Amino acid sequence: MGIIVQEQTGLFHLQSSEMSYLIQIVNGYPVHVYWGGRLKHRKSMSDLLIHCPEGAGLDRLPQEYPQYGSGDFRNPAYQAELVDGTRITELQYEGYRITKGKPPLTGLPAVYTEDESEADTLELELRDAYSGLKVVLLYTVFADRNVIVRSARLSNEGEQKLKLIRALSASVDFMGQGDLELTYLSGAWSREGNITRRALLQGETRIDSKRGMSSHQLNPFAALVTKETTEEHGEAFGFSLVYSGSFEAGAEVDAFGSTRFSIGLNSFDFVWLLNSGESFQTPEVVMVYSGHGLGGMSRTYHRLYRTRLCRGKYRDEERPILVNNWEATYFNFNADKLVAIAEEGAELGIELFVLDDGWFGKRDSDNSSLGDWYENREKLPGGLKEVAERINRLGLKFGLWFEPEMISPDSELYRKHPDWCLHVPGRRRSEARWQLVLDYTRKEVRDFIYDSLSAIFSTVPIAYVKWDMNRNLTEIGSAELPPERQAETAHRYVLGLYELLERITSDFPHILFESCSSGGGRFDPGMLYYMPQTWTSDNTDAVERLKIQYGTSLVYPVSTIGAHVSAVPNHQVGRITPLDFRGDVAMSGNFGYELDLTKFTDVEKETVKRQVQTYKQIRGLVQKGDLYRLKSPFEGNESAWMFISEDKAEALVYYFQVMAVPHPPRRTLRLSGLDPEIEYEVESGDHGEKSIMGGDRLMQLGLPLTLEQKDYESGWFRLKAINPQNA
Ligand code: DGJ
Repeated sequence: MGIIVQEQTGLFHLQSSEMSYLIQIVNGYPVHVYWGGRLKHRKSMSDLLIHCPEGAGLDRLPQEYPQYGSGDFRNPAYQAELVDGTRITELQYEGYRITKGKPPLTGLPAVYTEDESEADTLELELRDAYSGLKVVLLYTVFADRNVIVRSARLSNEGEQKLKLIRALSASVDFMGQGDLELTYLSGAWSREGNITRRALLQGETRIDSKRGMSSHQLNPFAALVTKETTEEHGEAFGFSLVYSGSFEAGAEVDAFGSTRFSIGLNSFDFVWLLNSGESFQTPEVVMVYSGHGLGGMSRTYHRLYRTRLCRGKYRDEERPILVNNWEATYFNFNADKLVAIAEEGAELGIELFVLDDGWFGKRDSDNSSLGDWYENREKLPGGLKEVAERINRLGLKFGLWFEPEMISPDSELYRKHPDWCLHVPGRRRSEARWQLVLDYTRKEVRDFIYDSLSAIFSTVPIAYVKWDMNRNLTEIGSAELPPERQAETAHRYVLGLYELLERITSDFPHILFESCSSGGGRFDPGMLYYMPQTWTSDNTDAVERLKIQYGTSLVYPVSTIGAHVSAVPNHQVGRITPLDFRGDVAMSGNFGYELDLTKFTDVEKETVKRQVQTYKQIRGLVQKGDLYRLKSPFEGNESAWMFISEDKAEALVYYFQVMAVPHPPRRTLRLSGLDPEIEYEVESGDHGEKSIMGGDRLMQLGLPLTLEQKDYESGWFRLKAINPQNA
């Protein structure tokens, strides 16, 4: 395992426990040979070697970082413009370097190793002799994960300046693997995480974001799968970009049925000036191979992202059950109202109270005060500290909402610094939700936000922060950047954000940060590097959430998926669902409540108490177990999933039926991922009934379900392996 180099043939074999990735240098070009299930490394791998006669066209050569202009007419991975206006460069291999572990990427979020033995990194050095453009392709292979992490570093080692007009993170040519399909996450605000799958035909299928953020509409993720790939069977090749801004990903099928997949920063509206001596590091893409369907791919992402992307104190800690006042009060609250909700929360066993939007400046609606990060004394006469301490005395921790990247035109901050927002001189400043975006490319702006937030963090007992971001970027220009760097603004914005997040999260390591962007507008690996959980969607309806959470789990671990029980009729869709059903859906994520607890009846309070107690017992498994998706809400009336401990000794099954079915058939649910050799005690979470069943039986015949005849029916089961001797 690791990286095996065959110098004579120019072959590099990157090998993990179940996966191989092979690159060969052919006529000076790094050529893609293979990516898939593990190949034994043999002395002679000559049958695999790619031969390309000198002078043959590049159009049919599978490449690792293709160029444009010398005979390959497919999408290039990069393009640079020279001072003479020409845009032809030709990268030729110069050498390689192998290091233990994984180097960090300066200024960018990245997966990491805790011990050097976990991974090896290959750097391939390429150079365009004429311009002095040097490109280093970085590949990290993990020993025990089917993961390759790729990125590229482009440096100008020539005398003249260069302009990068395209700089993707990776490109992979799947040769002769016709009939591939592309699956990705599409959606909209309050409809995130739709699993979309389509066959690839000759031509290009492209997904992207031009919004300056990763977006609700298309997540920076896609997987190539075969026609036969299902949830638990067949091959899947996942690509997940560790980036929070505009991105592109595309699959291009050529005339010979080969598919080129490439992903990285969006080349649209991107130009990066590279002066002599300067370098540009692309974000990285995490590529996962699965021979066990989409489920296998997801589990690889989950384990990696939960333990080697997320960081900090809370990475491995069980997350607190919270109550958030947004849907309870919106902007209409005072200190006593907040404390009353927290009081009920304390009775019910809730651990954290989150004060959402509306506590600062003159913020009584969404049309003012962003940027004025000091408390509103009319609502909170004793200040934030007083209300936080009152809530702490009840036994709950205190959390606070911010939207630190924004500025309201109606704010003290805007009146003082009207040029601190992203804008283009002389042009309209497009408002969305009555707000503009702060220019995070500017250090003084970031410093101001750092100072405003840290003043509060240092004086108020804050245990949690919800970092919101509620609009896309428009008129993307910066008053500070020179004309030739204006097209760098969008990427510099994201780099500025990362710099600030690094500073804040490392200076206040005791705070649990949750990111949010009108729900899932920036649910991406870049944000997870700084904040280990995300508010998944503003849509809190339990039926809608089945799809949103199921879809989001294609890439993102359950520990990152914020899920709250809200009031009925639901505020987004008006649907009325039972409290049990809402609880079961939300308990399948990072659990909390988002409603006015004081309005519950005594019976409802008993239900909530039970839910809170249950979640405290199961959250270890929900947040850290392996997820097996059993029934897709995208395919019908039923949904089901389960969480299994690493040693397979414990599992938790959730089943949901949206609408009642008249005269229904006898129901069974086939489980997955259990140990077929052992027996499990199966306990119904709702009725407490227990029975003993073998893992093989549960997976082959299925778990019998007894359902009530009603809409919005759900059930859950706890499985515990019984002593194998008794099996
Ligand atoms: C959007 C978030 O997604 C909501 O949860 C809430 O925090 C509002 N913003 C507040 O303005």
